[in-house]
Amino acid sequence: MAFSFFKKSGPEKKEEPQVATRGNIKYHQLKIKEVVQETADAISIFFEQPEEPITYKPGQFFTLIPTVDGKKVRRAYSVCTSPYTDPHPGVTVKRVEGGVVSNFLNNQLKAGDTLEVMEPMGNFTIVPDANKKRHIVLLGGGSGITPLMSIAKSILEKESESQVSLIYANRSEESIIFKKQLDELQEKWKSRLQVIHVLEQKPFSWECPTGLLKPALLKELLKQLPQWDTAQTEYFMCGPEGMMVNVEETLKELAIPKELVHRESFVAGKTQRVEGAADPIAAAGDDTPKSREVTVILDGEEHKFTVEPDKTILETALDLDIDLPYSCQSGLCTACRGKCISGKVKLDEDEGLSESELEEGYVLTCVGRPVTDDVVIEIG
Ligand SMILES: Cc1cc2nc3c(=O)[nH]c(=O)nc-3n(C[C@H](O)[C@H](O)[C@H](O)COP(=O)(O)OP(=O)(O)OC[C@H]3O[C@@H](n4cnc5c(N)ncnc54)[C@H](O)[C@@H]3O)c2cc1C
Ligand code: FES
Repeated sequence: MAFSFFKKSGPEKKEEPQVATRGNIKYHQLKIKEVVQETADAISIFFEQPEEPITYKPGQFFTLIPTVDGKKVRRAYSVCTSPYTDPHPGVTVKRVEGGVVSNFLNNQLKAGDTLEVMEPMGNFTIVPDANKKRHIVLLGGGSGITPLMSIAKSILEKESESQVSLIYANRSEESIIFKKQLDELQEKWKSRLQVIHVLEQKPFSWECPTGLLKPALLKELLKQLPQWDTAQTEYFMCGPEGMMVNVEETLKELAIPKELVHRESFVAGKTQRVEGAADPIAAAGDDTPKSREVTVILDGEEHKFTVEPDKTILETALDLDIDLPYSCQSGLCTACRGKCISGKVKLDEDEGLSESELEEGYVLTCVGRPVTDDVVIEIG
């Protein structure tokens, strides 16, 4: 694969504006302050703050837009930093076998390079509140630690009466991202942070639970955490699909109310929406594949176009150079979210949207196909 080089800043070159706004979304040209090798197959990328600093919430994600093979590509990466403790925002990227962007970034990126980055987004977040006293239980696997790290650091810093517990599953000791940082945080916050590592392969020099994070093991581990009232405990999970399914099942068996459970998926999977949830596909109208006209209102401007049956609304808009916002293109991150104010849209995937968002008529254009002829979607 022929990789292109990142743009370098230099006096001889015409520099791109530091920030451009398209469709109400800010696109920054961010200089890389530092690239840290976290494990053999994961790096953290720290950005210089621009003149007007970027603000973000714990657990949100940045969309990185490198140019690979002459083509701009977008991928979402969750922040690993806390806006309250880290001067430079950062993301952590783990290689995916055969993956275009994760390998490009791991192979090519270095301090001083400039990267196009879309403003932070995402609802897998928490607003720290110094007056709150609660137990935040974080359940992570592999690269899923990234947003959990951001949340942990933020809560520990800002909520002096709250407790944070982390159950973190990995294949081996060498694959644990942030092992040293987590040890240091435990040392710093002692009674307020508990970390339990779960490894598939037993480590040489220390004891920890081993095996996959299946319901029986997870229930055991949850019992080892400080016990708080159900209503004061919130759960945040992020990891591989199999782990997320196990965690969801366990929390359901333990009768944890679903509004206290938050999840972030990095990859489209087969997780079933919980029983009783709105099913946008069943609710949609005529499913017969045919061309249909769609109107998208982007920041007040109306765009009318025809969506062919083999295309999504976003794909069609991008083909027509309509600059709709997007990131993951898999129905996970909600960067492309809009409100369907007329007609019906079928979603190939609805993982990113909450039940209430579905009920309120929100749709994801990246996985959305019109099933009536009068679809109007409002974005922004
Ligand atoms: C909201 C959000 C936040 C994310 N945060 C992070 C993060 O903090 N750190 C991080 O490393 N990644 C994160 N991801 C995943 C990231 O956006 C990319 O999907 C990932 O880096 C793979 O991109 P790629 O171009 O290398 O692979 P692609 O070329 O897109 O895909 C190659 C193959 O790998 C599969 N694949 C894609 N992603 C994964 C995965 N995560 N695990 C296993 N198989 C996969 C694809 O189905 C495909 O078959 C996040 C995704 C979302 C939606
Ligand atoms: S672009 Fe991520 S949900 Fe559509």
